[in-house]
Amino acid sequence: MLNVPSQSFPAPSSQQRVASGGRSKVPLKQGRSLMDWIRLTKSGKDLTGLKGRLIEVTEEELKKHNTKDDCWICIRGFVYNVTPYMEYHPGGEDELMRAAGSDGTDLFDQVHRWVNYESMLKECLVGRMAVKPALPKDYHEEKKVLNGMLPKSQVADTLAKEGCSSPSYDWFQTDSSVTIVIYTKQKDINLDSVIVDHQDDSFRAEILIKDYSYIIHVELSHEIEEDFSVRVVENVGKIEIVLKKKENASWKRLGHPLENHNSLILKKDTGLYYRKCRLISKEGVTHDTKLFCLMLPPSTHLQVPVGQHVYLKLTITGTEIVKPYTPVSDSLLSEFKEPVLLNNKYIYFLIKIYPAGLFTPELDQLQIGDFVSVSNPEGSFKISQFQELEDLFLLAAGTGFTPMVKILNYALTNIPSLRKVKLMFFNKTEDDIIWRSQLEKLAFKDKRFDVEFVLSAPTSEWNGKWGHISPALLSEFLKRSSDKSKVLICGPTPFTEQGIRIPQLINEERVTGVSPTSVPHELMGVYVDPQWLLASKKRGNQV
Ligand SMILES: Cc1cc2nc3c(=O)[nH]c(=O)nc-3n(C[C@H](O)[C@H](O)[C@H](O)COP(=O)(O)OP(=O)(O)OC[C@H]3O[C@@H](n4cnc5c(N)ncnc54)[C@H](O)[C@@H]3O)c2cc1C
Ligand code: HEM
Repeated sequence: MLNVPSQSFPAPSSQQRVASGGRSKVPLKQGRSLMDWIRLTKSGKDLTGLKGRLIEVTEEELKKHNTKDDCWICIRGFVYNVTPYMEYHPGGEDELMRAAGSDGTDLFDQVHRWVNYESMLKECLVGRMAVKPALPKDYHEEKKVLNGMLPKSQVADTLAKEGCSSPSYDWFQTDSSVTIVIYTKQKDINLDSVIVDHQDDSFRAEILIKDYSYIIHVELSHEIEEDFSVRVVENVGKIEIVLKKKENASWKRLGHPLENHNSLILKKDTGLYYRKCRLISKEGVTHDTKLFCLMLPPSTHLQVPVGQHVYLKLTITGTEIVKPYTPVSDSLLSEFKEPVLLNNKYIYFLIKIYPAGLFTPELDQLQIGDFVSVSNPEGSFKISQFQELEDLFLLAAGTGFTPMVKILNYALTNIPSLRKVKLMFFNKTEDDIIWRSQLEKLAFKDKRFDVEFVLSAPTSEWNGKWGHISPALLSEFLKRSSDKSKVLICGPTPFTEQGIRIPQLINEERVTGVSPTSVPHELMGVYVDPQWLLASKKRGNQV
């Protein structure tokens, strides 16, 4: 029997599924780039029409502003006049209009939760939504979700339905240390589930429990050393964070509670939390792609799970700009070690620099020692579902290779049942292939691994495979020796959209006795690489 995924990955609403619903950038008019928008917002022009006055907006008022010439949108309780932004929106005017005159928070989050609208639209702020008249008491008790925080009773109910109980915490001290103990009462908690930051006066621990985050957030009552240790007792879901006291004084209390302290919040409502990371090195990999190494602060514990991404944030001409990137290992050839063993403070990224892009040229300009803000990890990919795997097929195009790096390393090191891993790597030219020699060496070193390069614009000397993703190219490649197999695909939208249709084509043509829906395929980290997209549009969407 074939291995049938219970659901495709990423989930339809995931930010990793950027390709869903044909999402793509639209060509913007000359002079309407993000940089042009930033310039306009700094020009001192009155962009709201309210001369800087902030007002309380009622639902009735919001509804009235629903045309392209007069468009207000509410996001997280704040109302913005997006009329001047209309022509600058990279997703196009029609997409923006889907939220015209209404609360666009869910829509916005579904498409691009990471976009820093607060900073980009600060000159467009009209005001806050007016608070609705109070509802009957029992309604509040049962249904209220305040800024994503559920009332305790509802949290307990929701978790109980999912077979979990509410987390709690305690703390104790010795002369030299303070230990915070968090009881998650969950069995699948590991070091990836714990994110701890001590920044300025704030100590914050976020524990990821299914779709929720349990947060400890306090201003500590006394000073501590920069570094601390985190331990997880996996079978009972107990977490211990050991802080080193700066002075041997006895603490009377842990500290003063800060925002969301001791609460359980839906993960999607927590907002992105950032810490500043130092650029340690920047190394050319291909003519346009570089390997960046960032160092986490000593007062941060964060591990990015295999197959997940983070957001990088830079302030560009006074506006915060955020883009998603998938961390990789420093190399394909170093033995894969659990980050805990390495006490890993480094995060590596393979990033393609777009000379006409907004974010990547800025990143490229950074000097060693400069800072970039890095968010908590996001994504729902779980490598644990691969434990019994025998065959793994990876299809990557361009920088869609990045999630494959850790998956490959992990699979070859940590899945004992694995018999074969094959990567088909699509690029335009030979010069675009990321880590080609490492891939070839790995294939030589580990007989379970094979790599095939496919070029869409090869020179006449190329005697390898060429073309775009197609049933013909994949039919041979995807031959399975086992039922316990998975196919992962990542790259620009047209590539993945075409790719996910192919197993069904192969299925119809070559695999008999299996219904199309039972072909195992999973999507991961699907994202738009705008240059590919443009190129594909020129070719009439044939990638
Ligand atoms: C989950 C996820 C993970 C990712 N991981 C990685 C990774 O590991 N490595 C990596 O390199 N990238 C990754 N990306 C892509 C990355 O987030 C950025 O999209 C990419 O770096 C481009 O950013 P930029 O601001 O420099 O370019 P942009 O400003 O977005 O522009 C890129 C190019 O498109 C052109 N362009 C921009 N807007 C338009 C428009 N409206 N019409 C026509 N052309 C336009 C620009 O001129 C430029 O040539 C990932 C994306 C996602 C969603
Ligand atoms: C609420 C309704 C909205 C919808 C349906 C929507 C939709 C889209 C779509 C489909 C894209 C596609 C391009 C891509 O894949 O990158 C996009 C991009 C983008 N949108 Fe929106 N959008 C909305 C609101 C906003 C708002 C209010 C802002 C304010 C700043 C905004 C800023 C952006 C930016 C900066 C991008 C480019 C993202 C990137 O390159 O990473 N959008 N949007």
